Amino acid sequence: LATQGIPVRVALRCRPLVPKEIGEGCQVCLSFVPGKPQVVIGTDKSFTYDFVFDPSTEQEEVFNTAVAPLIKGIFNGYNSTVLAYGQTGSGKTYSMGGAYSADQENEPTIGVIPRVIQLLFKEMEEKRDSEFTLRVSYLEIYNEEILDLLCSPCEKATQIHIREDPKAGIKTVGLTEKTVSVASDMVSCLEQGNNARTVAATAMNSQSSRSHAIFTPCLVPDFCGIASRFSPFSLMLTIGMLYIAFIMFRYGP
Ligand SMILES: Nc1ncnc2c1ncn2[C@@H]1O[C@H](COP(=O)(O)OP(=O)(O)OP(=O)(O)O)[C@@H](O)[C@H]1O
Ligand SMILES: [Mg+2]
Repeated sequence: LATQGIPVRVALRCRPLVPKEIGEGCQVCLSFVPGKPQVVIGTDKSFTYDFVFDPSTEQEEVFNTAVAPLIKGIFNGYNSTVLAYGQTGSGKTYSMGGAYSADQENEPTIGVIPRVIQLLFKEMEEKRDSEFTLRVSYLEIYNEEILDLLCSPCEKATQIHIREDPKAGIKTVGLTEKTVSVASDMVSCLEQGNNARTVAATAMNSQSSRSHAIFTPCLVPDFCGIASRFSPFSLMLTIGMLYIAFIMFRYGP
């Protein structure tokens, strides 16, 4: 990652027209250049990205191409973030799996986050010589407020604050972090948070997420815990906790 220069990759995904758009007579105005990560608007405006996924691209291909390599990275000590950005109705929740429930487990339409959960646990299983602890948090930013999607309703009053720690970076103080030991525990956290998200209809999306959401699994190699008892900062800083954050960021109404 770091050796390849800029550690940011941009993928453009164009979804197919949805039934409402087809009913209204909308036409696709983009074309795709075979074999190149390029999209053309109309006849002459072309744009190139690291990856371009045309409307026929399945969830599995998006995941394998743009996200799975990041999971290998976090086991090698890199933090990773997958940020989905786009206007209302463009497909952020669909692509990320932000409406996932466990009964969809075997469907090909499942998005990035449930696929990452499967891969994280598979990788940990294969790395039998190392032990890891996995924790997870899930928050939404709604009307400038941070809401904890994993706390029970009676604890809703808990205030969450963003603090910048010179050593540990940005921290969200007061946010629930649940320790999970099997994939189904982490899936339950995803489902619990998805159900708690604020949803309402917009003109373009009847199930529009009205917030930004951040789902963050945190992987802690167990030897860090042991080492940190002897040297409180050095190892935690270099290896420390490895985060992969999934952010669904929206703009527009
Ligand atoms: N690649 C795709 N293939 C088929 N349908 C898709 C695809 N992407 C999105 N859709 C459909 O488009 C609609 C809008 O998608 P989605 O709810 O994910 O938008 P969003 O970006 O999360 O919007 P908002 O910001 O309003 O929450 C949904 O009905 C979804 O099922
Ligand atoms: Mg959404």
